[in-house]
Amino acid sequence: MAKASKTKSRSSLPTSPPPRIAIAIMAAGKGTRLKSKHPKVLHEIGGKPILAHVIATAERVVPSEDIFVIIGHEAERVREAVAGTGVNFVLQAEQRGTGHALMVARQALSGKGNSYDQVIVLSGDAPLITAATIRKLSDFHSAQKAAMTVLSADLDNPYGYGRVIRKGARAEVTAIVEERSATPQQKKIREINSGLYAFAAASLYEHIDRLSTANPHGEYYLTDMAGVFHRARQKVVAIKTSDAGEVLGSNTRAEMMVLDVRLRMAKCRELLEAGVTIFYPHTCVIDREVEVGADTVIEPFVQLLGHTKIGADCRIRSYSVIANSVIGERVTVKPGTIMEDSRVGAGAVLGPYSHLRPGSEVGEGAHVGNFVETKKIKLGKGSKANHLSYLGDAEIGEGVNIGAGTITCNYDGVNKHQTVIEDGVFIGSDATLVAPVKIGRGAYVAAASCITEDVPADALALGRARQSVKEGWARAKREGQKEKSR
Ligand code: UD1
Ligand code: CA
Repeated sequence: MAKASKTKSRSSLPTSPPPRIAIAIMAAGKGTRLKSKHPKVLHEIGGKPILAHVIATAERVVPSEDIFVIIGHEAERVREAVAGTGVNFVLQAEQRGTGHALMVARQALSGKGNSYDQVIVLSGDAPLITAATIRKLSDFHSAQKAAMTVLSADLDNPYGYGRVIRKGARAEVTAIVEERSATPQQKKIREINSGLYAFAAASLYEHIDRLSTANPHGEYYLTDMAGVFHRARQKVVAIKTSDAGEVLGSNTRAEMMVLDVRLRMAKCRELLEAGVTIFYPHTCVIDREVEVGADTVIEPFVQLLGHTKIGADCRIRSYSVIANSVIGERVTVKPGTIMEDSRVGAGAVLGPYSHLRPGSEVGEGAHVGNFVETKKIKLGKGSKANHLSYLGDAEIGEGVNIGAGTITCNYDGVNKHQTVIEDGVFIGSDATLVAPVKIGRGAYVAAASCITEDVPADALALGRARQSVKEGWARAKREGQKEKSR
């Protein structure tokens, strides 16, 4: 009995509360090596800004109110690009190095009312980091009771990265040496600093003022905190990532493309896993949020962008670019079809070379063919517009045939007007429908008609000059020319 109560009291001993964690994301740098007028962290990989990837991952670890993005170069543009996430911003007006970035964030991270135990530092230019690795870094840091924990990785080619210097049996970290300051011996070290860290918040701000700018760049290096802590007899440790690819940075366009390919291929693998066939996946550009149903086939050189959703059993043929659109099951998209903010019903056939502009709704089993441009239209079930048309601001019913070359004249130079074509209508080739105009159910419009007035149901509308024929006219002309030349 006594034993049992002892066990019970031990298990109910107060365990140490989970640390209060803040994530700081350094994103103030210019990105000189990109030779770009745009800030580095707004360059896109995998279809969105590099910084947006880092924030999305951070948000899977802590709530956005505990995320602090340090901005500086083109601060307003950067802020605007990611403001929707609800993170905090810290302005580093002058960018004097990664150490300086954290100095500037002192108030936010350890000021009154903001008593964080742990500060995780992420780099705004290392977007492949995963939430699982951040949690591992954080847990390891807590378990080690360290002042600083470096996330490191073994790279075959460590060139350009800071190297982790370890010493002694416990293999604690004594320093991080930047490429430019490294001795030939240190350059051989393959364990690199990822630029991601966990700090004990109090220790960081107790010692951060000891950083100096005595280095080749004349900057405050956050990496020097390793040496600072070591000299102050505070514990610095490093934990290696299992996947070195996660910590790759993007200082140059070439490095960015490596990251982009990694993200794209990961997305393709995820879709292949889910039952989608993708031929030559390395030629396809498929954004992260895209969904595709099983047994759909994606041919080479296809782009599926934004929040596109494609049903099962479709075939998306080469050179099609589909953005923010929803496509039902069994749809065939023939080569070269461009589509944006549109919806396509089951069994429809599009292309080749169709252009569906925003607000196009193509019904079940409908066809939109070669060189047909649509905008803000509803094309009913089974209706067909197979060749060379412009259909804008139109409501087209079911079972309608739109002849080749049909144009809705929707714009009078000032306003846009609506064309209504009811069920079962037949529009002959080369008709021009001057909006606003309505063609009633089951009516016919003769080829080459210019329709300016409503056509009642079941009527035939002719809107063209009557053909006249002059017998023998051509022969007389030829004979007249012969006379002259004599
Ligand atoms: C940094 C590390 C290096 C590490 C590498 C990993 C330093 C001194 N070096 O080098 O050891 O191997 O990352 O990728 O930290 N930034 C600011 N304010 C500044 C300067 C930079 O916010 O004043 C931001 C940048 O926008 C960037 C991040 O900090 O997102 C890292 O800066 P960067 O110049 O890319 O450092 P690296 O040279 O890559
Ligand atoms: Ca970098």
